[in-house]
Amino acid sequence: MASILIKSIKTLVQVGKHNTPMTSPVKGADMKTLPQIDNAWLLIQDGLIHDYGTMDNCPENADQIIDATGRMVFPGWCDSHTHIVYAGSRESEFVDRINGLTYKEIAEKGGGILNSAKRLGNTPEEALVEQAYTRLEEIIGFGTALVEIKSGYGLSLKDELKMLRVIRRLKEMTNLTVKSTFLGAHAFPAIYKENPEEYMQLILTKMLPQIADEGLADYVDAFCEKGFFSVEQTERIMEAASKFGLKPKIHTNQFNCMGGIQASVKHGAISVDHLEVVNDEEITCLLGSNTMPVLLPSAPFFINDHYPPARKMIDAGLPVALATDFNPGSTPSGKMAFVVSLACINMKMTPEEAINAATINGAVALESQSSYGSIEKGKTGSVFITKRIPSIAYLPYSFGSNLVDKVILKGKLV
Ligand code: NIG
Ligand code: FE
Repeated sequence: MASILIKSIKTLVQVGKHNTPMTSPVKGADMKTLPQIDNAWLLIQDGLIHDYGTMDNCPENADQIIDATGRMVFPGWCDSHTHIVYAGSRESEFVDRINGLTYKEIAEKGGGILNSAKRLGNTPEEALVEQAYTRLEEIIGFGTALVEIKSGYGLSLKDELKMLRVIRRLKEMTNLTVKSTFLGAHAFPAIYKENPEEYMQLILTKMLPQIADEGLADYVDAFCEKGFFSVEQTERIMEAASKFGLKPKIHTNQFNCMGGIQASVKHGAISVDHLEVVNDEEITCLLGSNTMPVLLPSAPFFINDHYPPARKMIDAGLPVALATDFNPGSTPSGKMAFVVSLACINMKMTPEEAINAATINGAVALESQSSYGSIEKGKTGSVFITKRIPSIAYLPYSFGSNLVDKVILKGKLV
């Protein structure tokens, strides 16, 4: 029995009350409440959270004891939306944007997703594993415990399979919990420009069956947006995927409201992601659903676009989750704490709301709320210990620092 006792914790954050497990999304006004215990201890045993309490009844023995005086303990971040497997980088597009081109104009010129697809096609599997693993190590250091990774830079049967096999290998290499999503419908490759239906058929009749057959994906995604996949095409993909047991998590409403949210809700999507633009009808639609709105504020930060209307959504009673969108084009960063800062600064979310969004609601967006997203008996022993900090609000306030001191994943000190 391997055990770690963390004692004299200044504040144990996002901690459930005994016997009432936190397994539902935190919505609306409840998002302002972040349960915590001051002057606490936490015992992790055999990879799981075993127990916790206040220092007046602290256990004495454990294989490893960590003194957390002045420091806080959080459940590991739940990053429910990333594209961490990619080849190389796209800083030339970053410079193009400085010189006046928009993200969409760069994509129309064959840059953007197609640029990354070309690079990925020319990169062997081994090198992709190595590059992505380095990124995973980085986000572990930032405190992430649960992460979703999408395909979508392959855009051919061979290369989509290659990406998903890389993700499968990553799952075996790390104590982060990794979920994989098939995003063959990320962009139409240039060779199908005149005949997009041919690429649709490739997704529907070749990619989906083989990916399902090899068990390579946990979810399916599509980029539902003008110039990418229409609502009708997205619906056909969701419908076909459901026959293979793959539930949707859909990129939509990044630039336009075109019905992507309504279609995703209709098909029982676990989440709808981006949502830089959302109208009243879409908020009403989400209120009547179990679909989690996932906001990715480091994307509009990086491409200088406007931010999702988080305040309006939460005030209407919705839950929201926060994720990084770590990818080479719109967000070359996997730092959840920075996303939390952006949510506070640019979307007027309180620190408590943003931390709920980055933990329990992120876990819900990956159907992992029974094991991640809060500190509760029986959940996975994946937490981070901060440096000395005066308050919870100091975390998003101090946006340039990495305040994570120690990381424990599945009961092991990293
Ligand atoms: O979520 N919007 C679509 N896909 C990614 C960006 C992909 C890229 O630019 O490489 C996103 O922002
Ligand atoms: Fe994305």
